[in-house]
Amino acid sequence: MISKSTIDQVYEVARLEEVIGEYVNLKKSGANYKGLSPFTQERTPSFMVSPAKQIWKDFSSGKGGNVIAFLMEHEHFTYPEAIRYLANKYNIEIEETQETLEEKQVKDTKESMFLVVQYASEFFETNLWETEMGKSIGLTYFKERGFKDETIKKFALGYAMDSYDDFSNKALKKGYKLEFLEKTGLVIVNEDRKVDRFRGRVIFPIRSMSGRVQGFGGRILSEQSKTAKYLNSPESEIYHKSKALYGIYESKQSIAKNDVCYLVEGYTDVIQMHQSGITNVVSSSGTALTVDQIRMINRLTSNIVVLFDGDAAGLRASLRGIDLILEQGMNVRVCSFPEGEDPDSFAKSHSSEEIIAFLEEASKDFIQFKASLLNDAGKNDPIGKAETINEIVDSISKIPDVIKQEIYIQNCAEIMQISEDALFSALAQINKRNKQKGTKRLISNPTAELVKKTVDASSKVNRAFELEKQIIAILLTYGDLELNFEDIVLVPDEEGALVHKTQYMSAKVYEKIFLDLQQDEIELSNEAFKNIFYKLIALYQSSSEELNLEKVMQTEDLAQNEIIADLIMKEEQHQLHDWEKRNVFVKDKGSEVVQLVSETILSIRRYLVDQKIEELQVETKAQHENQETLQEIMSYQQLKKVLSNKLNRVL
Ligand code: CTP
Ligand code: MN
Repeated sequence: MISKSTIDQVYEVARLEEVIGEYVNLKKSGANYKGLSPFTQERTPSFMVSPAKQIWKDFSSGKGGNVIAFLMEHEHFTYPEAIRYLANKYNIEIEETQETLEEKQVKDTKESMFLVVQYASEFFETNLWETEMGKSIGLTYFKERGFKDETIKKFALGYAMDSYDDFSNKALKKGYKLEFLEKTGLVIVNEDRKVDRFRGRVIFPIRSMSGRVQGFGGRILSEQSKTAKYLNSPESEIYHKSKALYGIYESKQSIAKNDVCYLVEGYTDVIQMHQSGITNVVSSSGTALTVDQIRMINRLTSNIVVLFDGDAAGLRASLRGIDLILEQGMNVRVCSFPEGEDPDSFAKSHSSEEIIAFLEEASKDFIQFKASLLNDAGKNDPIGKAETINEIVDSISKIPDVIKQEIYIQNCAEIMQISEDALFSALAQINKRNKQKGTKRLISNPTAELVKKTVDASSKVNRAFELEKQIIAILLTYGDLELNFEDIVLVPDEEGALVHKTQYMSAKVYEKIFLDLQQDEIELSNEAFKNIFYKLIALYQSSSEELNLEKVMQTEDLAQNEIIADLIMKEEQHQLHDWEKRNVFVKDKGSEVVQLVSETILSIRRYLVDQKIEELQVETKAQHENQETLQEIMSYQQLKKVLSNKLNRVL
């Protein structure tokens, strides 16, 4: 477990705008920053970051929260993972509560597997730099490939000795359990025999987005060997080939910053490109691109350039990858290298300016690319041409955005010398065919999904929800303001009759809200609001200082933080808006708030009392008009009348 003091330190040091700035291009906008939502594909920025309050709000997806919430939402980190990530980023030493060998064993399987794999990675690295064999065989090999020391270190490359048990013996001696050595595939156990998986190979550790080693690729050193050139870690609880991208950790920042990701075929392509200064490169490691991998890239940028080796062997197979990228609503360009070259060899023999110029010039959009494949097949063949056009339109049909589709249709018409009308009807045909195939298209269409979600959400919005939300908003913004509240109470006059009398009472806003709501013994109906309500009241009561919102949000409770960020940022926008429109009378703020608080409290009380009456009415029917319940209903009805009267006076 991470100690409380480490967590506190992380919250203290981490700057929200710095952390988010790695993923989103933020521009200053007044006291805040604005950028494009990293959660949706929008064109006008609705993502806001408040450096002063250390909260963010994404108005297009509704998400929001503090720095931890951002990492949990965006990187899909768990709470401890997010803390660890920030601790690492800000060089904060993580203090573990009683990290003993025992605890090491108690930790869940995945955690143990990560530890084993991390140990192995460091072990292979040490072999490479510090052993005779490692230096003379492994390091020499990398040097011959043109890798510099700093590059080798950046990718934590290593060497596995040509031995059956060198690694396993040392790992076991260190206290790592055979169970986890086997589970991670580092050691192959066969009855009573055990063998190291990686032997006499140079090692490429494969890291996750957050930088943890998940598995390895190991390359043989001589081309003559009969075994496979690359041997990789098997699938395991911590390594899923379809969800891994080699280079993602080393490249993620640059991908976000340059707003484009280059996709190459192999480990060495990624490394060589990095060494040449092109640092936004990942590889799907020789397998067909998967949707999970594309989504991972999509978190950083919506632009992918696929780089193909010059030999073009897997070219046709890779066309499927292009369609998958389009289906995710991303933009794709394609760049093939000259005959016999791959990004590795090309990067090695050219300067970075030359590489950049080549990527710029040789990248085509998918239409030009598919059209260029036809050129090889024979331009004057009408059947071949028709096939190509259909293939292009098929790709266009995968794009979820209709406007983009139209632009590509125009583009294709021009390139292929065919009328737009013909292309549109071809597109309509494909769409019809896809529809008949089932709802598959609908599911992969994010716009349809989004509309559905919004409708669901808005139908849930009811009066209580709005009122309760307002209560929380008031508590958050004006909670400890001391104001003079007007209250109308019933008091007996000289003759003993009850009359209305206006009373003034000075109170803090939170006290007024709390006491008034308590009077009726009614609680907020929304569970999340209720929790925040009690938390805020307790905080106001316990501290004499101003409410520290950052402290309130230092929790794993993402739902809570989303609500708070939402209310604060909306208020912020609202205030800015009003400020611009008319000069806000700060003097009047007090009476405005009194009005707002009184009105909201009365409305919510009346609403909740109404609910209560309805509930009781159902109850009394079931109980055959129980006298006690009837009595209760009557007193609530009395109360409702009083509340309505008061409300009329306030309004
Ligand atoms: N690959 C693999 N197993 C193999 C061959 C290839 O897993 N037997 C994967 C590796 O991730 C490799 C990628 O496919 O990086 C691309 O293959 P290739 O182009 O042959 O490898 P390179 O990375 O270019 O390696 P090298 O330049 O060392 O030949
Ligand atoms: Mn290659």
